[in-house]
Amino acid sequence: MSDFPPLKNDLLLRAARGEQTERAPVWIMRQAGRYLPEFRKVREDHGFFEICQTPELATEITAQPIRRYTGLIDASIIFSDILVVPQAMGMEVLMNPGPQFPDPLNTPEDVKKLREVVDVDKELGYVFEAITMTRKELKGEVPLIGFCGAPWTLFSYMIEGGGSKFFQKCKTWIFKYPEESKALLMRIADVCVDFLVGQVKAGAQLLQVFDSWASELSPHDFKEFSFPSLLHISKNVRKRLEAESLPVVPMTLFPKGANQSLSFLAQNAEYDVLGLDWCIDPAEARRIVGDKVALQGNMDPNVLYAGKPAIENAVKRMCEGFHTGKGGWIANLGHGITPGVDPEDVRWFFDCVHKYSAKKA
Ligand code: CP3
Repeated sequence: MSDFPPLKNDLLLRAARGEQTERAPVWIMRQAGRYLPEFRKVREDHGFFEICQTPELATEITAQPIRRYTGLIDASIIFSDILVVPQAMGMEVLMNPGPQFPDPLNTPEDVKKLREVVDVDKELGYVFEAITMTRKELKGEVPLIGFCGAPWTLFSYMIEGGGSKFFQKCKTWIFKYPEESKALLMRIADVCVDFLVGQVKAGAQLLQVFDSWASELSPHDFKEFSFPSLLHISKNVRKRLEAESLPVVPMTLFPKGANQSLSFLAQNAEYDVLGLDWCIDPAEARRIVGDKVALQGNMDPNVLYAGKPAIENAVKRMCEGFHTGKGGWIANLGHGITPGVDPEDVRWFFDCVHKYSAKKA
């Protein structure tokens, strides 16, 4: 690991550790994506998972927003997808244009179809290679984030067979087959642990777990079905990193829509950073978590469609909110950026974060 260029910008890592930084580090979820013409250009000639599986292409796309927004952006995130884990477990996943599983898990019997032992080096070695290549390409300009999907979110895709509006199939599983569901969630969590440790070994400097569908569970069911697998990941990744003498990197949990469980997660989940969506007021979130964890977020991504004055107002308000109380803050959107946003408005978002998050001397 020592042959990587030294890191020149550690704002993200300091804020993730709880430090109040001279200005907020900023990046955006899905920053390497369809709003960028340079991404769409590569996509014309290559399939989505083909890009994920080709380290040179994944490295190129990871670097695109870093090049475009040099000096304005404080982190990169490896170009991949949360659905590479179900693929590694033996499921077929297509992207057309949304995710599609031709053969989803209909009943607990179907779990037999999954690989019993998942060798992440064999199945996901391409992600590790992309991470190592990207670390070299970035030349220490900004840290590189590795990630995976949370078991509950992956479970829902594996059972629903794609995106879902009502989550009827995966809810049927948890309510009708609770024990089988918990066993599958833990099986997914074990693969996530191996995958995240492998990403750190390859060069990832912070890890984020995306629980995009946490919003679909009641507070009780979130604690019963999602939380145990999230804790399993944070505890075991840390334990394995220590045991293997790897850097114990900060970990972020993005439990989208689980704001009712924020206090519980800050106290019990063992993540350094909690990501917030836009449905919670920043000052309120800070009051709830105290300085127990750093926070990340949380502007509504749709503000990016509303022009520069609206963006400026929203960023200013967000900065004022997060500046109340103690603790680190990483500026971001409250969910991924969507196609159709003007890249120049994204630049303005970054400019405004730099301006309004700077600590007055
Ligand atoms: O953040 C980054 O720039 C890194 C790459 C990244 C992608 N997906 C690339 C992608 C990351 C971190 C993800 C995470 C992801 N993938 C999540 C969790 C975050 C969230 O937004 O909730 C989820 C739920 C997925 C599953 C997924 N992948 C969906 C639902 C879709 C289709 C709809 C959409 O949002 O684009 C994808 C496809 C996908 N993943 C694209 C990209 C750039 C677009 C696909 C294309 O080029 O055709």
